[in-house]
Amino acid sequence: MLWLTAAGRCSPRLRSADRLVLDFGGFDPQSVKGFLSSGDGALLYRYGLKAAAAGPLLEVGAYCGRSACYLGAAARDAGSRLYSVDHHQGSEEHQPGWEWHDAELWNAAAGRLDTLPVFLRTIRHAGLEGCVTPVVARSRDAARNWRTPLALVFIDGGHSMQAALADWRGWAGHVAPDGYLLIHDVHPVPGDGGRPPMEIYRRAIASGLFEPAERQEALIALRRVT
Ligand SMILES: C[S@@+](CC[C@H](N)C(=O)[O-])C[C@H]1O[C@@H](n2cnc3c(N)ncnc32)[C@H](O)[C@@H]1O
Repeated sequence: MLWLTAAGRCSPRLRSADRLVLDFGGFDPQSVKGFLSSGDGALLYRYGLKAAAAGPLLEVGAYCGRSACYLGAAARDAGSRLYSVDHHQGSEEHQPGWEWHDAELWNAAAGRLDTLPVFLRTIRHAGLEGCVTPVVARSRDAARNWRTPLALVFIDGGHSMQAALADWRGWAGHVAPDGYLLIHDVHPVPGDGGRPPMEIYRRAIASGLFEPAERQEALIALRRVT
């Protein structure tokens, strides 16, 4: 467990038994709208730090920037970079009338959800502008044109079966050997959450390309073995 100072340096100052506390001059990633627990954020940071010496990190699904704070801090502390892919128009469940719609994120002029301004503000407040690059694009389009091997890919994009499978097909091959694939919202018990993240976890294991590295709450880390 680590305490990250406002100056961006990483020091082993313990806060509690299971919480990683990011201190960017009082900024707390958990104050950002989002769905990632602080425990899962700590796991992202840990794997990001472990992987980042070998290359850049990439997340699919930025929303308002909560996960980007943890992965961005890891990239910063390892002298690497986080690419954060999102079209910033929200997933199915964020649209008006759906369970996770947040009216504050509605851009009336554009007539659509727009999380990009909040995301950019988060990265600025977290002091991570120098090491987080937003990629405002559909995941499929970004993946198709991607050319750089990645040390870690975190999949937390659309949760429909179509979107989740597109993320798996688009990004798994970009993870470098010995790199990591992390998948959010993997719920083994049907009913605890949607099936698509579990389905891509199954495909990752069945492919023979990945082996399980660690699991915590709804977050699974896999290591690329070939
Ligand atoms: C669950 S949220 C991500 C949460 C974020 N990781 C956090 O820590 O708060 C899912 C995000 O995926 C994005 N998304 C969904 N489908 C996408 C697609 N096909 N291409 C790019 N982004 C997509 C949505 O715009 C939304 O912001």
